[in-house]
Amino acid sequence: MRYEEIAKEKFDHLVKNWKKKDIYILAIESSCDETSIAVVKNGREVLSNVISSQIDIHKRFGGVVPEVASRNHLMAISNVLQESLDKAGKTMQDIDAVAVTYGAGLVGALMVGVTFAKSLAYAYQLPLIKVNHIKGHVSANYIAHQDLKPPFLSLIVSGGHTAIVRTKNYLQNDLIGSTVDDAIGEAYDKVSKVLGLGYPGGPIVDKMAKEGTHSITFLSHEMMPHTFNFSFSGLKTAVINYIHKLKQNGKEVPIADVCCSFQCEAVDALVHKTIAACKKYKAKTVAVAGGVAANKYLREQLTRVGEENGIRVLFPPMVLCTDNAAMIGAEAYFNVIHGQGLADMKLSACSGLNLKYSVKK
Ligand code: KG4
Ligand code: ZN
Repeated sequence: MRYEEIAKEKFDHLVKNWKKKDIYILAIESSCDETSIAVVKNGREVLSNVISSQIDIHKRFGGVVPEVASRNHLMAISNVLQESLDKAGKTMQDIDAVAVTYGAGLVGALMVGVTFAKSLAYAYQLPLIKVNHIKGHVSANYIAHQDLKPPFLSLIVSGGHTAIVRTKNYLQNDLIGSTVDDAIGEAYDKVSKVLGLGYPGGPIVDKMAKEGTHSITFLSHEMMPHTFNFSFSGLKTAVINYIHKLKQNGKEVPIADVCCSFQCEAVDALVHKTIAACKKYKAKTVAVAGGVAANKYLREQLTRVGEENGIRVLFPPMVLCTDNAAMIGAEAYFNVIHGQGLADMKLSACSGLNLKYSVKK
């Protein structure tokens, strides 16, 4: 039998028997600067989640350099696999399917994970499951909150994405709104760079903001009014112009106040639109994901405003907020049990993969 036939037979067996049998998925994530491999049991139990971060390598360049990221994924991935299997106490013989992020992300970085996953699936004659990275972020919450079931709203906030998503069921994530230009994490990183605070910018700006006050107004108007969309490029540019102007006039830049004011405007837009979306779609639960979910001010504000409006706000622990393979394994599991996601040896990286709008923008 050809590989495709064997993989399809095994996949169909999983689809038919998932209620009777434990399913172990080996998941691979390499869309940006984290090489991660996890073993996930039945979608919600993480047996291992090994993450090899390249942050220290990219720090000296002030941001992620795509070619450097691909090369480092290549160097790390075999060891990450071994460590992940060892930590889980499993061998490839125990694995039922191999899942991989095929988009969105940096194409060269994604290609390393996709090629590695294809090789493993072929060598061990296992079904190959393709996973959309953005949906993976949503699924991180199924691991963090074992009782969580759709429908709910998700807010995805990372270096690559900013989106409000309506998670209708385990398969369907409809976009309600997203950024029309920069992602929120990207704006944090850029503001940090211009202030000379380093990379990644989010944690440093978050920390500095606590020492400042919201004394500067960067955007005099509401961000993209009457929509659930965001535009962080305008806010970012306003901050940069403000800093440049002070420097040109030989004045000192009030770093903490700039951080605090930028953060208040950026996060307030997230909170305002997320709560408005909950009201419109009658959602009682919001699950947050992505690296920016680490932000203290976002956590406090969204939780507080959520409580005021009778909305339960969930945040995963940090390790599941930033890029990791466990969330990819969870997303793959819910695809498999619904008979979705099977890929073949023609699978390639799809850097621009996105979610679809359920409603007109
Ligand atoms: O999810 P993630 O690890 O990678 C992507 O998929 O992009 O998110 C990384 C982003 C970076 O832009 C980083 O600056 C931001 O998350 N970040 C934060 C905080 N911690 C990380 N942004 C704001 N506040 C934080 N505490
Ligand atoms: Zn991500």
